[in-house]
Formats: sequence, structure tokens, C-alpha cells
Amino acid sequence: ECVIYMGAHDVERQAPNVFRMKLLGAEVVPVTSGRGTLKDAMNDGLRDWVTNVHNTFYCIGTVAGPHPYPEMVRDFQSIIGKEVRWQLPEHEGEGRLPDTVIAAIGGGSNAMGLFYPFLDDESVRIIGVEAGGKGVNDKMEHCASLTGGRPGVLHGNRTYLLQDDDGQILEGFSISAGLDYPGIGPEHAWLNDTKRAEYVAITDKEALEAFQFSCRTEGIIPALEPSHALAHVMKIAPTLPKDHIIVMNMCGRGDKDIFTVARHLGIEMGAEGRDME
Ligand SMILES: Cc1ncc(COP(=O)(O)O)c(C=O)c1O
Repeated sequence: ECVIYMGAHDVERQAPNVFRMKLLGAEVVPVTSGRGTLKDAMNDGLRDWVTNVHNTFYCIGTVAGPHPYPEMVRDFQSIIGKEVRWQLPEHEGEGRLPDTVIAAIGGGSNAMGLFYPFLDDESVRIIGVEAGGKGVNDKMEHCASLTGGRPGVLHGNRTYLLQDDDGQILEGFSISAGLDYPGIGPEHAWLNDTKRAEYVAITDKEALEAFQFSCRTEGIIPALEPSHALAHVMKIAPTLPKDHIIVMNMCGRGDKDIFTVARHLGIEMGAEGRDME
């Protein structure tokens, strides 16, 4: 039996993914507490697990939460970075490593999967891109836990969080459902503190521009999450030498996001997805 707790707000924003999960036989439970996002779904998932621990395995889709989940998810996802290590030399020559690896960060799993196999290669620059929402400011209208939060405890791990002066978790804000988490996996917090990786924030507006740029120039409709990483690539690539190799994780496709994008661009869509103009 597979039960998926998902924030009610995300059930709406990620409708095509919910439909796919149901087709594959999962029961999807919308979580209405809080603002109905990943944080609230993790609360309910953890509650179910500790209540039914004798017959239940808890799984989380990111490198956050209590040990051993951050480590397990990292190890599974690290196939991404391993494949980069295997495939890059086929195109760029024997022994060639990327000069920079970049990925978007919600809880941090796709990023950790790309970064992990390169942690010991000092020549590889590592950049994680958080959701800057409306801008990393005191109003917390963003989900940049590292660049705009501070250390605290949530979901069984100590990491950087969006929180008020009393340690209460704040909701944060991002155009992208997958980056809308007020924390970050603890291993990213460590990579930040040891300065092995850099973390930056990209705003909704910059991500939307990158989304459209990728559609127009590559014919690829990216998810809003990797659009954040792409926006940062667009910022730094012009400053780098021509032979500098950047590997960016295009961690999801954007069909789930086209209605959100249309709304932000002020385009009204009909029930069948037709542009009403
Ligand atoms: C396409 C996509 N990319 C990225 C993420 C962010 O998660 P993580 O930081 O764990 O990779 C999500 C989360 O739902 C997602 O759907």
C-alpha cells in the first residue's frame, strides 16, 4: 500500500503529477494544515510513520528529514553525478571533469545527487540555487533557507531554516511548488559552512525569464525548479571562458507548470489549456 501525503496547495499546483501517481496506484492524501505545502505534508507523513511504525516505511522525496533519509536519498540520487562523470569524457575527452556543477534546491536532492560524486574534486565549483521568490528580504517572501535563513531544528534535523525570533517556522514563498520548503537538507548546510559549495538565490521573475528563454532557444519546456538554476547559468556563463564546462541539472520538465506560468504572464487558459486570446 502506498500513501502519499501532499500539501493541498501542491495537489492543485502539481495536478498532472498527482494524476500520474494515482494512475500508478498510489493513494494521495491532500494535507490542508499550514499553507498546504511540502513542510505540512512532511509533518503528516512523519506523524503517520511514528503512529504505524510496526508496518510502515517512511520515505521522503528529498535529502531532508531525520537520519537516515537524507543519506539514503543522497545515495540514490547520486547516480546523477556518477552518470555525469561517466558521460562527460565521451564528449569532452578522457579525464575531463565539469568546471562547474549547478542545480536548483528545494530540500536539495537533485542538487546533492549531482554534487556528491564531485565533492572531493577541488577543481569543480559547486553552486546550489535557492528560490529567491520576490527577493531575499526580511519579509521572508522567498524560500532561500541558506541565503536568507538561520540554523534551527525541523523535521528531525538541524539545518538552516526560515524562522521567526522564537524559532517558529515561517512559510516562505516561491513561484515553484518544488522549491517551496522553508528548510534545506543538512548536508547542504554543512557544504555551505565548510565553503565547499556556494549557494545563491534567484527570484521568481528571473526564473520565469529563464523558463521562456529555454522554450524559445532550445525547444525545451523546463520545470520552474530548474529554471532557477538556468537563470543563474545565464548570469555567470557570459563571464566565463569559452571552454569552461558547466553542467546544470535539468531536473524536471515543465508541463506541470504551464498553467502557473500562463497565470504569471497574464495569459488566460481555457479548460483544455487553450489560450483564450
Ligand atoms: C522538478 C523538481 N525539481 C526540483 C525539486 C526540488 O526538490 P529537491 O531540491 O529535493 O531536488 C522538485 C520538488 O518537488 C521538483 O518537482
